[in-house]
Amino acid sequence: MFRNLAHRGASQHAPENTLAAFYKGIEMGANGLETDLRYSKDGTIFLLHDEMLDRTTNGTGSSSNYTWKELQELDAGSWFSAEYAGERLVSFESFIYIFGRKPLQLVLELKGDHLEEDVVRYVKKYDMLSNTIVTSFSYDSLKEVRRLDSEVKLGYLARDWDMDLLGRLREIQVFQLCPSAETLTEEHVRTLKQEGFEVRSWKVKDEQLMHHCLNCGVDGMTINFPEKLSEALQSR
Ligand code: G3P
Ligand code: CA
Repeated sequence: MFRNLAHRGASQHAPENTLAAFYKGIEMGANGLETDLRYSKDGTIFLLHDEMLDRTTNGTGSSSNYTWKELQELDAGSWFSAEYAGERLVSFESFIYIFGRKPLQLVLELKGDHLEEDVVRYVKKYDMLSNTIVTSFSYDSLKEVRRLDSEVKLGYLARDWDMDLLGRLREIQVFQLCPSAETLTEEHVRTLKQEGFEVRSWKVKDEQLMHHCLNCGVDGMTINFPEKLSEALQSR
């Protein structure tokens, strides 16, 4: 099944990584949700892309300086538009509770340090091995997840890759290779598939790049405007 993954939710249409953005993604035809995981000061895992609060909330400074109780008080919607004033940050456990039982693929990106053990624990505790992919730009982080568990599906976010890296990714049974849409070619996709990887692109900034990825033969992509991808897939 082709993966239309709402990137931080339908983040072109609603404030990223909020419930509003995830619901909007589903409403717009996404069959999966991508999100970013971090720790609060007191060890709650919650969803936020940037380390700093300033861009996407009314808070300031590093999110890791705040307890989950303090983070929950922030407005994570007004920066986007008045319509979303009062949207809250979301804990990982709430995200799992709300979306984990729906027919959706959940793509979890490890943004902070040392999240591996807790994330694996949650994925197993909530019986989500089959519908979850744990992703990272860090090879070491994925290696640690694999050390902790032999079954969790892994996706490597690649700014660049070569055959040596592919060999090392295979050693830790990485299932999915995620190249940036901007550098993707048809030949890359063919090679990666021949080497046994599912290919999912990211940084799909506009419709032209979306069509480029589709023409290259990717298996899925994270996208801020899932409705356009849904439309394109229907007309193929
Ligand atoms: O899909 C991967 C993508 O989310 C990685 O980039 O910066 O959006 O987390 P970023
Ligand atoms: Ca991400």
